[in-house]
Amino acid sequence: MSILKIYEYPDPVLRKRTKKITAFDENLAKLIEDMAETMYNAPGVGLAAPQIGQSIRLIVVDITMNIDDEKEYMVMVNPVIIAHEGSQLDEEGCLSVPELTANVKRYKGVTVSYQDLEGHTKELSTEERFSVVLQHEIDHLNGILFLDHLSSLKRNLYKKKVKKRLANT
Ligand code: NI
Repeated sequence: MSILKIYEYPDPVLRKRTKKITAFDENLAKLIEDMAETMYNAPGVGLAAPQIGQSIRLIVVDITMNIDDEKEYMVMVNPVIIAHEGSQLDEEGCLSVPELTANVKRYKGVTVSYQDLEGHTKELSTEERFSVVLQHEIDHLNGILFLDHLSSLKRNLYKKKVKKRLANT
């Protein structure tokens, strides 16, 4: 396993169109392991393929129940939100958008259709925190960052901060 580079805003790869995955092979399994290791190393609770520079529809999400438990993650290949209900406001951050956390309005519950590592189609309905993580990661597959859900005031403040930082390096 190896730790991959995490691309950060404003890298264009985060905005690129992603391709559906059709090959459920060893390369995919290896990439998933590397993504999980990269996520836990960061540390984060979710990681989408565009964040490691791969324009494909793949996410890994942490599903460890208790902090002392052995780390456990879930893989979703080609995930799509097929139903949603309600709304909630919760704080989010992103490994590709460093030094920013903000409240984002999301659906309260979502049903996601996806494929597992072997290509079997599955469905998952979930609420609250895990639902937020899934919506955030699936957004990445569509070139959307949590930044895009904020008010233009907050977004522009962050953009200015990043510009300044890039100018100073
Ligand atoms: Ni993110």
